Amino acid sequence: MSPAFAFLGVSILGTWGLASLGLIVGGIFMLFFPGDPTTASGHTLGGIVLLVTGLASGGLMQLVLGPLLGIDLPTPLKAKNIVPAARMKKWAAAGAVRDYPDGMPKEIRLRSQRVTMVRMGETIYALGGLCSHARLPLSGFPGSPVKAEPVRGDCVTCPFHGARFEVASGKVVRQPFSSEFNNDHPFLGRLQSKLMFFNKNAEDMQTYPVRIEDGIIMVGLPK
Ligand code: FES
Repeated sequence: MSPAFAFLGVSILGTWGLASLGLIVGGIFMLFFPGDPTTASGHTLGGIVLLVTGLASGGLMQLVLGPLLGIDLPTPLKAKNIVPAARMKKWAAAGAVRDYPDGMPKEIRLRSQRVTMVRMGETIYALGGLCSHARLPLSGFPGSPVKAEPVRGDCVTCPFHGARFEVASGKVVRQPFSSEFNNDHPFLGRLQSKLMFFNKNAEDMQTYPVRIEDGIIMVGLPK
């Protein structure tokens, strides 16, 4: 996706999302702070209408624009669907080691699959491109404020809600919305955990076998 298209998409999503959020917040205010009790019934009806419209608008936004922009619905990825390494027999070239920044996750597409590549020195690891918590890109959105987080303690951190996974095994070692993450990220963490994400669990991530052939990284994909 070109940066201009991505910027346009993120702008539309942002405006639509903020409008939906505004309707939801407006609805909540009308319902819980009705003001003059003599007109409270009108406020109640208006609040319900705003709330339902805001929720419907937010849901519609994700359903319509998400697939157009290559953004998946924010539903969890289950560990039970992980494909074992023994079944990854379709090898795809993923460039040279020096193509990847040391210690910084980078997303690539391999035969239409989104894969997060992580270089640690001369060793390369490959994990699923989308976080198992809500299918958001583990490497963030390019050109947006949500960028990839550097690898710490052999773990990659999802920049959206802070879930953390071991790069070698894909095991989840920290769940989303930890108090540490929420303190550092009031909007992505604390606010979203209260208003937008009822699922607060991440599961182990898919990993892919990697080997180097003549200086070229080869990643094993499912057949
Ligand atoms: S999408 Fe990764 S922690 Fe929520």
